[in-house]
Amino acid sequence: MNAKQAGFATRAIHTGQEPDPLTGAVSVPIYPTSTYVQEEIGKNKGYEYARVSNPTRDRLETNLASLEGGITSRVFASGMAAINAITSMLKAGDHVVAGHNLYGGTPRLFNQVLVNFGLTFSYVDTSDLNKVENAFRQNTRLVFLESPTNPLMELCDLRAVSDLSHRHGAEVVVDNTFMSPYFQRPIEFGAGMVIHSTTKFLNGHSDGLGGVVVCTKPEQADKLAFLQKCAGAILSPFECWLILRGVKTLAVRMEQHDRSGRKVAEYLSKHKRVQKVFYPGLPEHPQHELAKRQMSGYGSMISFETGSLANANKMLRTVRVCSLAESLGGVETLISHPATMTHAALGEEGRSKIGITDGLVRISVGIEDVDDILADLDQALAAI
Ligand SMILES: Cc1ncc(COP(=O)(O)O)c(C=O)c1O
Repeated sequence: MNAKQAGFATRAIHTGQEPDPLTGAVSVPIYPTSTYVQEEIGKNKGYEYARVSNPTRDRLETNLASLEGGITSRVFASGMAAINAITSMLKAGDHVVAGHNLYGGTPRLFNQVLVNFGLTFSYVDTSDLNKVENAFRQNTRLVFLESPTNPLMELCDLRAVSDLSHRHGAEVVVDNTFMSPYFQRPIEFGAGMVIHSTTKFLNGHSDGLGGVVVCTKPEQADKLAFLQKCAGAILSPFECWLILRGVKTLAVRMEQHDRSGRKVAEYLSKHKRVQKVFYPGLPEHPQHELAKRQMSGYGSMISFETGSLANANKMLRTVRVCSLAESLGGVETLISHPATMTHAALGEEGRSKIGITDGLVRISVGIEDVDDILADLDQALAAI
């Protein structure tokens, strides 16, 4: 498969997913083995021990690199393990500029674990280039950001921030989980690495955790492979296979997520009980023009303001088609409460600094019949 020539959906189905040479099986085999027999000392078939490498994992790493436009990728046991691997490439004394509104688990890792190892972090609004510029120090090695952010859906001009970071000798890492490579490919704008929680849209079926780092340079890939071997937070062959299966339908799923996402956002924006909707596809989103430039769709992640914790709870306990649960990106519509779920670790002060209120609700619109999702939201909002 010539990854450069084929279209996105073709690569999703075929790159790294070539038929098994031994049997012709069209589905990549799962290799549930911990070790590999060697012919003699130093002579093997390229595989020695499963923490170091596994054929199912190799196939997934090839596939995901192709979708994001990287040279290769490395997969890990979860999105957080992937982020931890990236920061493990740094040294004590290094500084990271991070987006001020990230998935709550990311600043929790940075502030409660990694600061103990001598890394320092500055949090800035990455939608404001001046703030990013002012945050650089002599020892800044990484700029870590999400665009759109979780859950406030703020965008970052990926090309401008990449140019700025390169001038300061820093690498840009984008957590592209919300968009998936189908709608946004940060490497095309200058990002040095892209990470995903594959738990979300890439897997797409809410049945396995995983994470990936897509690399643009061989030295990144080598360091990350070394970290897989040393630290061992690798993805199991079965979980790799689940993602290989999931990405086969990524293009069609994302199209449907996007179609339904737009309808739900429009519905919410007109609802009298909803005070504000955060969705880059709405013309009133402050960065709608940027969204049109750097994303080819708006996806299905929407946040909205219900006014209070009590209103949010009344609504969330009344939903029937939507499932009240953490996570996102599955075929089923998941609805959640950032203040007590994904962003609880930030604390009240941390949340209020960036504008995550107790009345904020986040929805990951699934691919059920959109009329059923709208009817469910309608009856749930009537409870407020
Ligand atoms: C944007 C984003 N990045 C990273 C993560 C962490 O991924 P995981 O739960 O697979 O560790 C999440 C989890 O919700 C997320 O939403």
